[in-house]
Amino acid sequence: MEITRILVVGSGAMGSQIAMVCALTGLEVSVQDLAEASLEKAQTELRSRMDRSVAKGRIGADERDLAFARITFGTDLPAAAKGADFVIEAAVEKLEVKRELFAELDRLTPEHTILATNSSSFVPSKIADATSRPDRVVNMHFFNPALVMRCVEVVRGPQTSDATVATTVELAERIGKLPVVLDKEIPGFVANRLLNAVRDEAIRLLEGGYASVEAIDTAARTALGHPMGPFELMDLTGIDIGYHTKQARYDETGDPADLPSRSVTEKVERGELGRKTGTGWYDYTEQGDH
Ligand SMILES: NC(=O)c1ccc[n+]([C@@H]2O[C@H](COP(=O)([O-])OP(=O)(O)OC[C@H]3O[C@@H](n4cnc5c(N)ncnc54)[C@H](O)[C@@H]3O)[C@@H](O)[C@H]2O)c1
Repeated sequence: MEITRILVVGSGAMGSQIAMVCALTGLEVSVQDLAEASLEKAQTELRSRMDRSVAKGRIGADERDLAFARITFGTDLPAAAKGADFVIEAAVEKLEVKRELFAELDRLTPEHTILATNSSSFVPSKIADATSRPDRVVNMHFFNPALVMRCVEVVRGPQTSDATVATTVELAERIGKLPVVLDKEIPGFVANRLLNAVRDEAIRLLEGGYASVEAIDTAARTALGHPMGPFELMDLTGIDIGYHTKQARYDETGDPADLPSRSVTEKVERGELGRKTGTGWYDYTEQGDH
């Protein structure tokens, strides 16, 4: 199926950059949000990011201008949905919001339209039954920052059709990404599960007294070639993010193995969340050493 018009729902950190990735490769994109302020912020941030790319010679000024000319920003979902061939939903990570959006998109979009979610944690089967087209519901999971990161996970649910997977893979390739297909859905998908396994083992080693934060990070960088160690990465993304993800998983499964670890819980209770608070596993204040 020929995809020409993309609808991106949600203009936050992910939606705005996903829209630009699509527009840069010649697709017509509509970005819809509930909040005018978010749409304005998205445009301002994209402007300065693309201006930097032009200044660094990564893209031409005409390429930038053509890409912006292909994107429309607005708050009229019904009008935008009417002409969409492919929807990428990147709204807030709340299941009820996504289910309501998918039900609405199902009513508003043409029959052939594929409804994809960029959700990091909700698998297709959590959302597909809110629509009358579960065969055309799929996860198309980008990584942050979407303009830079090349991997896109394409996750099929039990009802996702082969044609939907094939079209999503084609679209990912067309916009210059490297699709990774999951043949069966699993929360966390592939990349984040691998990342979380390393993080959890790092915390076990620390809590067991086997090695220090610095030693574990050094091993990850110098023996495994990771660009940063698991503790440095937690400080960068925010220790609270992993804490809340684990807590949510525990609330779902009731399995004590899914609970956040002792040391992470202590950090969160003390408000030591990483770089954003000045202290996490390392100290980032003036007198700090990291
Ligand atoms: N941030 C990441 O690192 C990352 C990475 C991969 C995937 N994701 C996923 O992408 C999605 C968006 O994440 P984000 O970080 O861009 O969030 P964000 O909070 O930056 O942006 C969410 C946007 O959605 C808008 N929104 C909320 N409800 C809406 C609705 N009903 N209709 C239209 N717009 C609505 C909000 O106004 C906001 O602008 C989430 O599902 C998240 O799991 C995030």
